[in-house]
This record gives sequence, C-alpha cells and structure tokens, in this order.
Amino acid sequence: VPDDDRHTLDAIEERIRQVVKEAPSPVNDVAFHLVSAGGKRVRPRVVVHASRLGDNPARCVVEVAAAAELVHTASLLHDDVIDEAPLRRGQATARTVWGNAHSVLAGDHLMVCALELLEDCGVPRVLRTMLTTMRRLVHAEVVQLAHRGKLLPDMDRYYQVIRGKTAALFSWCADAGARAGGADEAVCHSLAQYGEELGVAFQLCDDLLDLAGTTEELGKSLFTDISQGVSTLPVILAAQREPELGSTIIEHAQNGGERDLEKLTDDVKRWVEETGAAAETRTLAGEHIANARAALEPLADRPERAQLEALADSMLRRRN
Ligand code: FPP
Ligand code: MG
Repeated sequence: VPDDDRHTLDAIEERIRQVVKEAPSPVNDVAFHLVSAGGKRVRPRVVVHASRLGDNPARCVVEVAAAAELVHTASLLHDDVIDEAPLRRGQATARTVWGNAHSVLAGDHLMVCALELLEDCGVPRVLRTMLTTMRRLVHAEVVQLAHRGKLLPDMDRYYQVIRGKTAALFSWCADAGARAGGADEAVCHSLAQYGEELGVAFQLCDDLLDLAGTTEELGKSLFTDISQGVSTLPVILAAQREPELGSTIIEHAQNGGERDLEKLTDDVKRWVEETGAAAETRTLAGEHIANARAALEPLADRPERAQLEALADSMLRRRN
C-alpha cells in the first residue's frame, strides 16, 4: 500500500471510530465489536481510487469513504440478525453477544451517521444516490427473504438479488468517489458501471467461498446460504447439470431442513466441483471483471486507470 493511500485509509478508519464512539452506550460497544474485528475495507478503497480521477482528490474523500463502510457495516449488523449468523470476521456476531435488538440499533446508528456525513460533506448528489442505493439494498434483501427455502430460483432472480445487495453499493462507491474528487459527469458514469460490475464479481466470488473456503480464512461459518435455504449461482448451475442435486435441495427445503445438513453440504460441495459449476461461476466472475475494466475505456491512458484495473483483478484472487 503506497504511503498516501495508507494515510487516507488511516484517516477513514479514524472517522469511522469517531462515529462509533458517538453512539449511546452500549450501542457504541456493539458497533465497535464489528468495526474493530477487521474487514477488508474494500469499499473505502474503491472510493479512494475513484476520487483520484477528479481535479481535487482530497476533497471529502474521507467522509464519503467512511460513509460507504458505515452503510456496509450497518447492513451486516442487520444481515446477521436476518440470517441468524453465529460468526462474522472470526468472532461471535454482535447479535449473539448483545442480542438482536442491540445489533439492529447499532446498525441504525451507523446508518444515520453515514447519511449525516454525506449531507455535511457537501459533495453534490452523493446523499441522493446513497438513498437510492439503500433502497436497492433493502429491496434485494426482501426478494431474497421471500424466496428463502423455496424452490431453486432462476438465474435472473439470482442476478437481481446480487445486483441489489452488493453491486449497488460498489457502484455507489465508485461514482461517489469520483464525485468527491470533482470528476465530470461522463467519468462518474463510467465509474458507476465499473463499480456495478466489480460488485457482481465480488458477490460471485463470495458465493463460491461460502462453498469452498475455510472458516479460518473467511471468519464466518460456511454453507450459510444452503443452511438458510438461499440458492446461489454455483448451486443453481450444479442443479441444472445434476438434476438429482436439484431434487435433493428442493426436498431439503420442503422438509424444513430435516435432512442431515452435514450430508447435504457435503453433497452440494462435491456436486458443485464435479459438475464444473464452480469453474463456470469463476469464469463468469472473470467476465464481470472484464466488463468492469471495459467500463474504464473512456479514461484512455490516465494513470489512475491502472490502479482501478488492479483493484478489479484482485477480486478474483481473494481468499476471504
Ligand atoms: C450480506 O449478504 C448482506 C448484504 C450484502 C446486504 C444486507 C442488507 C440489508 C440487511 C438491508 C439493510 C439495509 C441498509 C441500508 C443498512 P450475505 O448474507 O450473502 O453475506 P454474508 O455471508 O457475509 O452474511
Ligand atoms: Mg448473511
């Protein structure tokens, strides 16, 4: 990490911690528990890289990047309640330590503070576009919840959900970062497309890691999607190729998960590999990274382009 990136990332971290401290006790401890457990801070990095495309990259980038990470953190505090998740970032989830109510309220605090940061920073349009982004996040979660435990969703629905729950915020980060730096509308538009594609690839990799990663690397329990009755792309593809897998999953869903979960996850993991569904998901993630890179073509030979391309490529290599 170059020195000026480190400096900016430290300032973002400091801003996030300030927001956490402002919360009334014990919600400050709840939020601190998740914020201090690490996390890749990939969204703030997207904001920082995108901001360099403007004439004044230092302008409000810390506030905009902090807002992105705060909204993401808030959505995780809420998501772990919805998913009844035991582990996040290698430690017990806030909901298991303080209970659901405190986890929700900690998320609410972070969300309100993120919106305040965006209002106060004075960068045109970023508050408005964040509101649209949050709407997309919430709607995607509603769709995912509505189809939980039901039959396998089709590819279109899968993409609809991941575009809303993940790509929307990545797209916002790239667009808002460019706006914070003072880039022109055309550049912001390219960056919004770049972020959307980056987010789709990020989620495809996430869904693969849920099946093929390790708890140590990911810091969260594996097979959460299957155990929650959420079908991800690797599973949808495997079921198309191996109808027996499809019926096994449907049977599991219809019996309210009575079938031995360990047996089911072993079967799914094996089928996803053997049918080539894992490899195809990885190929598709690569295609979305290629789309993200293509969205940067209007930037021609600007030096910042290489950084954004490298950030996109790193998505495919991630192990956590
Ligand atoms: C993680 O997905 C969850 C999200 C990316 C979004 C969750 C959004 C909400 C709960 C809506 C709340 C909205 C706002 C604006 C705060 P996952 O469960 O697939 O990933 P995981 O394995 O990391 O839990
Ligand atoms: Mg979850």
